[in-house]
Amino acid sequence: MKIVVIGTGYVGLVSGACFSEMGNTVVCVDVDSDKIGKLKKGIIPIYEPGLEAIIKKNRSQKNIYFSTSIEESIKDASIVFIAVGTPMKEDGAADLQSVFSVAKEIGKSMTARLVIVNKSTVPVGTAYRLKEIVAKELKLRESIVDFDIVSNPEFLKEGSAITDFMKPDRVIIGSDSEYASKKMKELYSPFFRTHQRYLEMDIRSAEMTKYAANAMLATKISFINEMAIICEKLDADINQVRLGIGSDKRIGYDFIYPGVGYGGTCFPKDISAIQKVAKEAGYIPKLLDSVSRINQYQKVYFLQKITSRFGEDLSGKVFGIWGLTFKPGTNDMREAPSIFMINELISRGAKIKAYDPKVSQESVNFYINNKENVLICKSKYEVLTNVQALILLTEWKEFRSPDFDKIKKELLNPVIFDGRNQYGSFELKDKGFEYYQIGKN
Ligand code: UDX
Repeated sequence: MKIVVIGTGYVGLVSGACFSEMGNTVVCVDVDSDKIGKLKKGIIPIYEPGLEAIIKKNRSQKNIYFSTSIEESIKDASIVFIAVGTPMKEDGAADLQSVFSVAKEIGKSMTARLVIVNKSTVPVGTAYRLKEIVAKELKLRESIVDFDIVSNPEFLKEGSAITDFMKPDRVIIGSDSEYASKKMKELYSPFFRTHQRYLEMDIRSAEMTKYAANAMLATKISFINEMAIICEKLDADINQVRLGIGSDKRIGYDFIYPGVGYGGTCFPKDISAIQKVAKEAGYIPKLLDSVSRINQYQKVYFLQKITSRFGEDLSGKVFGIWGLTFKPGTNDMREAPSIFMINELISRGAKIKAYDPKVSQESVNFYINNKENVLICKSKYEVLTNVQALILLTEWKEFRSPDFDKIKKELLNPVIFDGRNQYGSFELKDKGFEYYQIGKN
């Protein structure tokens, strides 16, 4: 099948690559000519395990192409995916500008029946707005071409996006046409041994499923973070409590790790978007408001551990940070707790030395105010010289079992703030460290 994927961000590029891996001919389109130029040369703009290899293989087999032209690309395609960004606007709503302009462009240039699939995370009802936009463009040029609209939300996780796509938990297809439904099943059937996890539903429910899934996951994290604070107050241990509750299958062990708060592109943006649309529709969400407030407070709470130890005035002090991305396995720093932490420490006069396996000085400069106060080091141990304390913010594998003797020797004070509860079993207090974690004193 010939497929076009518009948008070469995480979702678009991963989807395009995986569809090409199944033998389809895929054209990935983006307005960013620089990005397309690089992709044509095999340079992948994001880090995602396995992605580069799949693209390399399918480029050489002529299964995947890159282009800046929607018109050229959709000529003989049967399915076109919209996978462009829906960033958060200042008022918390999803910015749908790119999605709408792509739909307009498709309507302007399509010449044969096309299934138009939206993969971008959009408020409920957006697919029908896309339908109107395309129909209007067709009418303007007096063209009678059939088209179908489908909602196919994406559930991939950064860092394991390829596996998530190739072996999906579920594929959600929201459609109101038999033709589209057949085409989608044909496209996705190679990803399934059975169709049990292939769920077809109405378009609005498919759009809502994405928000509900992310809201549930963010709620689990904020729940455990709140329990962690209560554990500290009552002198209990959240690590034990987590195992205790996770053993109940209804709760499960996944996604109940306490930490410095969730970050990334999906949870903060989607929670605020669903809050906004619910309010507009006449319901003020109570649980979701708490979920985002708890997440914000979690970062403040962790910062307070540092200021309680070193004081509110941190001038002249340097702190060492391990991990800057919002989670391991990605080079993405968007909405990462590290941004809040670094900005707050700097605003109190501190300087920062940091190391992350995937973050360069350049990308940090983009996110941090007063970037001259942040030095990105080449290794995790280089961070430690002349710093007051070590702060762990992202649980990359290379931070999991470090040389604690070396850490103690290098740090000015043997103090570790562990924002990801990684070192609980290393008996750090016995080794002479002041050790601060989340949910345990
Ligand atoms: C998420 C969803 O998992 C995915 O299904 C959706 O399509 C997009 O959003 P992603 O943002 O890539 O994916 O990352 P995820 O692994 O879900 O982690 C999100 C954040 O939650 C990270 O900052 C992570 O550190 C934090 N987290 C996760 C916790 O603090 N505790 C946990 O137990 C799990």
